[in-house]
Formats: sequence, structure tokens, C-alpha cells
Amino acid sequence: MNENILIIDDEKEIQNSLSAILQDDGYNTLTAGTGKDGLRIIQEEPVNLILLDLFLPDTDGVEVLRQIKSIDSSLAVIMISGNATVEAAVESTKLGAYYFIEKPFEPIERIDYMLLTIKRALEHQQLQRENLALKKKESSKYTMVGKSPAIMRLYDQISKAAPSKGRVLITGENGSGKELVARAIHQQSKRASKPFVEVNCAAIPQELIESEIFGHEKGSFTGASRRQIGKFELSNGGTIFLDEIGDMSLTAQAKVLRALEEEKIQRIGGTGTIDLDVRVIAATNKNLEEEIEKGNFRQDLFYRLNVIPIVVPPLRERKEDIPLLVNHFVHQFCSENGKPVKELEPEAINILKQHDWPGNVRELRNIAERLVIMVDSDTIAAANVLSAVHINTHTPYSEGPKSLRDMVDEYEKNIVVMELDATDHNVSQTAKNLNVDRANLYRKLRSWGIVKSDN
Ligand SMILES: Nc1ncnc2c1ncn2[C@@H]1O[C@H](COP(=O)(O)OP(=O)(O)OP(=O)(O)O)[C@@H](O)[C@H]1O
Ligand SMILES: [Mg+2]
Repeated sequence: MNENILIIDDEKEIQNSLSAILQDDGYNTLTAGTGKDGLRIIQEEPVNLILLDLFLPDTDGVEVLRQIKSIDSSLAVIMISGNATVEAAVESTKLGAYYFIEKPFEPIERIDYMLLTIKRALEHQQLQRENLALKKKESSKYTMVGKSPAIMRLYDQISKAAPSKGRVLITGENGSGKELVARAIHQQSKRASKPFVEVNCAAIPQELIESEIFGHEKGSFTGASRRQIGKFELSNGGTIFLDEIGDMSLTAQAKVLRALEEEKIQRIGGTGTIDLDVRVIAATNKNLEEEIEKGNFRQDLFYRLNVIPIVVPPLRERKEDIPLLVNHFVHQFCSENGKPVKELEPEAINILKQHDWPGNVRELRNIAERLVIMVDSDTIAAANVLSAVHINTHTPYSEGPKSLRDMVDEYEKNIVVMELDATDHNVSQTAKNLNVDRANLYRKLRSWGIVKSDN
């Protein structure tokens, strides 16, 4: 597809000669003699790049540039001018003009140079747009979903904590959304455009954790073959997220404590100190007070970190969020897998609500992914959900000791669900294959919540 280039210049001669040159090179061209006309065309036509004269009869080019950028900040604009002032050039560059080229467009080297500049500007624009799309995708990955009172309280705590520099300690079970909360706080803070740097204290071998956090100089220990910048330094101006802080070694804890107190760090083996302006958010699924009792966690560090405590409630305490969450994940995975959007039958959602979700939102997300991949039809049925939840936990509904009756019932249900899956949810066929009465099978399916009770 040929790119459309819009030429905004009041001189007819320039419009014509530029159009001819660009068309020769394979571009489509549009022309406007005034800023107003140019802006109208941008709104009406798909324009890929603009050549904009600095001197126009109605307004000056810099003003037009400003308006173009407010319509689409990534649209490539190249300014053209016979005798531009330095001020105008500086101002245009600040506003995001890609380049300045000079009139007239001869000799031939100048034309070649202009064409090359246009090509580069289009490539640059493409990259910028891809980058924006990636960022958007990235941020939608971290959107928090839920409307239950428990999650509304959490949103409220996040928005209160965000603007300050106060240290936050996030606690909650596995997969409940601690990392998401940390990212939301950063996103809503004044530091949002600065780095968010994560350190997973459980995933890094303890002997490397100090160097990971503080960095090291070349030769500071065996294996330190070059300088490494630590996570504290990388997050300067932004936020550091100390995840699974309960797993940090005591020696690393002591060093982190000192860094927080002094707001300065030293790389391992380094001599100079580096000033820190970092917001610290920590998270753990451990009970740190218990860890303090056991001597695994420093009390003084706990007090330093726990300025704003935020507890993320487990999913079983906000089951009313399950429909929203599962739909969110199903949509996400359908679009990632290029599949048409699937819907869950109400009974399917009811089954999800019966489950206790020991793995919290992450477990629900995994099940949504499995359903999107495994179920071919556009609707996800109760039986699909039941078998998916079953694979996940093996003991889907039971809590505490079970009676023989319950165990037999569960065993029976699993067999039926597998058969239902095998027959693509054909109840009559399932009854036939299992050699049971169809009405009887329906009764059982109703009692398990697999089919609606009025069926
Ligand atoms: N409220 C929510 N809305 C949408 N997605 C969520 C929500 N809560 C959690 N998730 C998703 O569930 C998964 C687990 O969340 P996250 O990693 O934040 O949990 P965690 O508490 O840090 O878990 P762990 O203790 O295992 O590190 C992620 O994929 C996250 O995007
Ligand atoms: Mg986490």
C-alpha cells in the first residue's frame, strides 16, 4: 500500500513540484494551501506523513504543527521553509517535528536527501506506533478487574497510597494480585513515567541477591567480570518492588535496612555512594510477624517497610468478582489466540463460584486459558468448567474430612464429566455409554449444578 503524504504549502508551484517528485517515488500525495485546509484533510483522510511549510497565509506552521500533534502525536511531520529562524526550528523540534528541510528542492542531491528523510521519518513513525501499541497491551495486562466491596476497598487504599512516597507492604495469598497492586500504585503515582523495577527475592539465589540489588564493581568478587548496575540504582526516580521479601537473607536485609535509612547505596566493591530517590514497595505471602518470632526476619526492617500496609483479600472472600474476572480472562486469551470471543453459560459461572480457589486469581486465570484453548464451541458449558477445575485441583469441592458417600459421589461425578466431555456434552449419548437411565443422569447432573434445575 502506498503511503499518503500531505503537502501543506501555499505556493502552487511547490505543491506541484513536490507532488511530482513524491509520486515518482511511489507515494500518493494530497495538497493544502492553508493550515485550516491541511487540518481538515488530516481529519478526513488517512495521512501517513506531512510536509509542512513554516509560512502559511492563515496561521504560522508552528501553530499548525501544534494542532496536528494534538490530533495524533505520532504522526510524522517534516517542516519545510525557505528561511527559517532558529527559534522556529527549535520550537518545531520541541513540538515533535521530525526534521527541517530547506526550499528550494534542487539540485538533485537535495531531492534525494529529502526522499531519504521521508523514508526515515515513516520508519521512525512505524516504530513509535508499534511501541505505543505494545505499551497499551502491556498496561492492559495489568488492569485490575473487580467490583466487590473488598476490591473497592483495595482500589481506595491504592489511590490513597499512590501519591505519597510512603513505603507500602502488600500481603496476601499466592496469586491474589499483590504484584498488580504494586504496579497500580506506581502507575497512579507521580513516578509513573519513571522505572518500575522488580526484584523477586525468592527467585534469586541468596548469594547473588546483594549484587542484584546493589550492583557491583568489576573484580569485586570471583565471577564479577564486569560492573553491574543494581536494581536500586536502576529504579532511581521510580519505584522498586521487593517481591517475596520474606525470603530475603538476613545479611541482605541488613543492607537494605541501611539503604532505606540513609537513602544512599554503594555498589559491592565500590567506594563512592549513590544518592537514592526510590519509592519502595514490598510484598510477601508469608506472615512477617511470625518470621520475626522465628528469627528469619528483622523487626526493624519490618517497621521500615510497613508504613502503609495493604492486604489483598483472597478470591474466596470476593466470589462476586468471579464472573467479571473470568470474562476478562476469557476475552484476553481469545484475542491472544486469535479466536472469536467465547461466552460462559450461567451454570458454568456458578460452578466457578462453588470452587474455593486456593490458587486465587492466578488459578482462575489458568483455568480461563485452558477453557479457551480446549473448548471449540463459542459457549463454554458447565461440564467444560467442571472438568477444567477438576484437572487443576483433584479435590475440587471438598474441605475437611469426607464421608464415603461424598467420595463415591465425587468419583461418580468425575466419570460422568469425562464421558460428557468425550460426547461433546450429549447427555443422551453419555447415559447410553455409561449404561444409566437418562432421567436419572439428569437428576444427578442437576444435583451437581452441571445443568440448570429447570432442565
Ligand atoms: N483483580 C485482578 N484483575 C485482573 N487480573 C488479576 C487480578 N488479580 C490478579 N490478577 C492476575 O492474576 C495473576 C496473579 O496476580 P499477581 O501476580 O499480581 O499475584 P501475586 O499475589 O503477586 O501472586 P504470587 O504470590 O504468586 O506472587 C496475574 O496474572 C494477574 O494479572
Ligand atoms: Mg507476585
